[in-house]
Amino acid sequence: MSNKTFYITTPIYYPSGNPHIGHCYTTVACDSIARYKRMQGYDVMFATGTDEHGMKIEETAKKSGMSPQDYVDEIVAQFKKLWEYMNISYDRYIRTTDHYHKSAVQNIFKKIYDKGYIYKGEYSGKYCVPDESFWTASQLVDGKCPECGREVIDAKEEAYFMKMQPFAERIEKLLTETDFLQPGARVNEMVNNFIKPGLEDLCVSRTTFKWGVQVPFDNEHVVYVWIDALSNYITLLGYENDMHDDMHFWNPETRCEVSPVHMTAKEIVRFHSIIWPAILMALDLPLPKRLYSHGWINFGGKKMGKSTGNVVDPFILGERFGVDAVRYQMLRDMPFSGDMDYSNEFMLNRINTDLANDLGNLVSRTVAMVEKYFASTLPEQKLQNSEQDDELISMATGLKEKIDDLIEIPQLGNALTEIFKVISRANKYIDETTPWILAKNHDDKPRLAAVLYNLLETIRITSVLLSPFMPSTMPKVWEQIGANGDSLAYSKSGEWGILPQNVTVKRGEIIFPRFDVAKELEHLESLNPKT
Ligand code: MSP
Repeated sequence: MSNKTFYITTPIYYPSGNPHIGHCYTTVACDSIARYKRMQGYDVMFATGTDEHGMKIEETAKKSGMSPQDYVDEIVAQFKKLWEYMNISYDRYIRTTDHYHKSAVQNIFKKIYDKGYIYKGEYSGKYCVPDESFWTASQLVDGKCPECGREVIDAKEEAYFMKMQPFAERIEKLLTETDFLQPGARVNEMVNNFIKPGLEDLCVSRTTFKWGVQVPFDNEHVVYVWIDALSNYITLLGYENDMHDDMHFWNPETRCEVSPVHMTAKEIVRFHSIIWPAILMALDLPLPKRLYSHGWINFGGKKMGKSTGNVVDPFILGERFGVDAVRYQMLRDMPFSGDMDYSNEFMLNRINTDLANDLGNLVSRTVAMVEKYFASTLPEQKLQNSEQDDELISMATGLKEKIDDLIEIPQLGNALTEIFKVISRANKYIDETTPWILAKNHDDKPRLAAVLYNLLETIRITSVLLSPFMPSTMPKVWEQIGANGDSLAYSKSGEWGILPQNVTVKRGEIIFPRFDVAKELEHLESLNPKT
């Protein structure tokens, strides 16, 4: 097995309100990939965190009558609680208020300044206070902030800028000549809207607020969001600070081919695909290998977010449906390049169809039949597999390779679809082989044993490959099908005949209960009128 490193990051979220299922999506997606890569034997670093500085946090804290630090401490506790609840296996949680990060940001800023890429100038433009963003007049939509639709104000201030032109050509190559940015459909947008018209220098400091990292050589200035925020991806690895040096996660010689991977939603793709590479180039550091910018979870056609108020509470969903079911639905239904409209009804139907009917039934029927026809233990003696079994076996054994490839892109929805194709095929196989008829004839017992063994093997393979996505439920499946130890190795998930021939099953609780959709919807509405 490889001991190469694999590094994956979520964006660091603004703690300007409690986390919602929009944040959950990215974090669960990264968690599933991190778990998959650990299963493949990589030395994984999975990082998430919070982006805690800036005017907006300063103002929100003030409104709540708290100091910014007390305010962010409270919200960060909520984020951490949610990640624990959602079974997020992050290795490191970075807060931009962490001392080691702040000192590293100062060093990074100074380093880029010393190289001549940062200079002092004056910034004037249209400013959206809630979004902390300056916009050019042409970027405004109906004279308002293109991001949130609110009023903008004229603003001018002395500021430091980072030159972008020296990096433009290399950035364009990164976008157009490699498969760095996924989905590839976003490449044109970046190149045509930002690179072709000429990259503007980036404003990297502010004097209008205090809640941030001070520019080391100019007390009046605070480092403006992107150098502070983006550099978290390396400061947490010990770059330019006295933390443990984990920069081998960034180093091309020690990392696996597609790593580091950054995942974000589409609204911050520009910062990650243009500004972040520019910062790394200015620092003479290698570039990340993949940026996956997924779509939004929308609610009634609008992006779900704190400022729009349409926030679905992941704790409530997890409690009602089970954390793994919620994880599954989000990952399964987010299209690779589009948005996903959230609805409770859709989630319930997805859980009922895929998890309760397809997977849940396959496991319970198979285990029940082994129990009923063979007193829970299959006989060693079986009939050789026949042509009737070929398709199921080849689909199941070919699955691992398909999922490996889809994880690299990453196309998690498609990966889950592929796994469920095999699960559906197995259900069809039960109808084709009619075990209940075989059971009636003593001479057919060896064939019946072979059929049930094939079903157990299919469950083993699919459940091992599903385990990074639904980490707490799959062990329950393994217990029921009598799989343990070596038979659960990822490396064996492309092989057939791994479970012992005389495997013993153990009937257990229903792994995914079926929901009464109308009743659940009524209940959810009574809890949360907004959904
Ligand atoms: N702090 C910046 C990111 C800095 S990264 C160096 C930021 N924070 S945020 O709190 O606004 O988080 C944005 C991210 O949260 C999105 O890119 C996405 O990963 C996730 N999402 C928040 N709402 C979402 C949806 N409604 N749908 C999908 N993802 C969403 O931007």
